[in-house]
Amino acid sequence: MKIIRSVKEMQDQAILLRSQGKTIGFAPTMGYLHDGHIALMRQARKENDIVIASIFVNPLQFGENEDFDKYPRDEARDRKIVEKEQVDILFLPDISEMYPNSMGVTMDVVSRIGVLCDRNRPGHFKGVITVLTKLFHLTQPSRAYFGLKDAQQVAVVDLLVTDLNFPIEIKMVPTVREPDGLAKSSRNVYLTEQERLESKHLYQALQLGKQKIIDGQKNPVMIVNEVKTYLKQNITGKIDYLELLSYPTLSPVNLIDEQVIIAVAVQYSQARLIDNIIVTP
Ligand code: PAJ
Repeated sequence: MKIIRSVKEMQDQAILLRSQGKTIGFAPTMGYLHDGHIALMRQARKENDIVIASIFVNPLQFGENEDFDKYPRDEARDRKIVEKEQVDILFLPDISEMYPNSMGVTMDVVSRIGVLCDRNRPGHFKGVITVLTKLFHLTQPSRAYFGLKDAQQVAVVDLLVTDLNFPIEIKMVPTVREPDGLAKSSRNVYLTEQERLESKHLYQALQLGKQKIIDGQKNPVMIVNEVKTYLKQNITGKIDYLELLSYPTLSPVNLIDEQVIIAVAVQYSQARLIDNIIVTP
C-alpha cells in the first residue's frame, strides 16, 4: 500500500491511473476506523481496479463548539486496518496541504438542508462538500463510497455530483452495527458505560417506527410521537432531533406513501449519536 501525503502527488498519481484506463473507487474518512469504514473499502475493492481511502479530519465541517480538537485520531492503528483491506493508496494529507491558505472559494448547499443535522450544525454540510470537492479533484474517483449511517450527508453529496456534473457514481453502503444494534461510530468511544448500554435503544426505537409503517400507519406525526415516547422511556440522553422525512429529498411528509427516513440524533455527555432507518412502504 502506498501512503501519499502531498496533494500534488495524489492528483498526479490519480490522473495517471485514470489515463491508463483504471477505475478508481474512493472511500473518504476522518479516520479512527471501524467496521463501517471497512465496509466502504471492501465494496470499493470489489467494484474497482484501484482503491483509494483518505483520512483527513476536516476542520471546515466542525462548528466552533464542536469536537474538532478531541476527535479521536490514531494513524498507526488506522494504517494497519487499511493495509489489511488491500487498499492501494492511503491519502493522508495534513491541514497545511489541504488548506495552505484560508479558502477564497467554498461550496454551498441550498437543498436537503434546514432539517436533521443541519438544524444544529449550521455550515457543517458546506464544509463537507467543500472538502469532498477537493478530495474528488485530488483522487479522480470513478465511484465514491458513503455510509447510509450519515444519510443526510450522502443525500447532499448525491446532489453535489448531480447538480455540478461530477463524473462520479455515488454508492450508498448500509449501516454497520454492533451486535446490539448501535451504529458503529468513531465517537462511540466517548460514551460512558451506562450510555453505551442504553444506546442500543436508538436503533430499537427506529425499528419500532419502521414496524408501524409496515403495519399500515401512514400518519408521520403518530409515528414520530410513538418513537419519541419509546426513546424518552429508555434513554437518558437529550433528543436533539427525531424526524420523519422523504428520502433522499428530505422534504416534509404529510402521508407516508413514498420512501421515507426516520432519523434521530441524541446528545450524550461527551458524544452526539446519530442513526436512521429508511423505509419503503
Ligand atoms: P467519517 O465520519 O469518518 O465517515 C466516513 C464514511 O464512513 C462516511 O461515508 C460515513 O457515512 C461512513 N460510516 C461511518 N459509520 C458507518 C457505519 N456504522 N456504517 C456504514 N458506514 C459508516 O463522514 C465523514 O467521515 C466525513 O464527513 C467525510 C465524508 C470524510 C468528509 O470529511
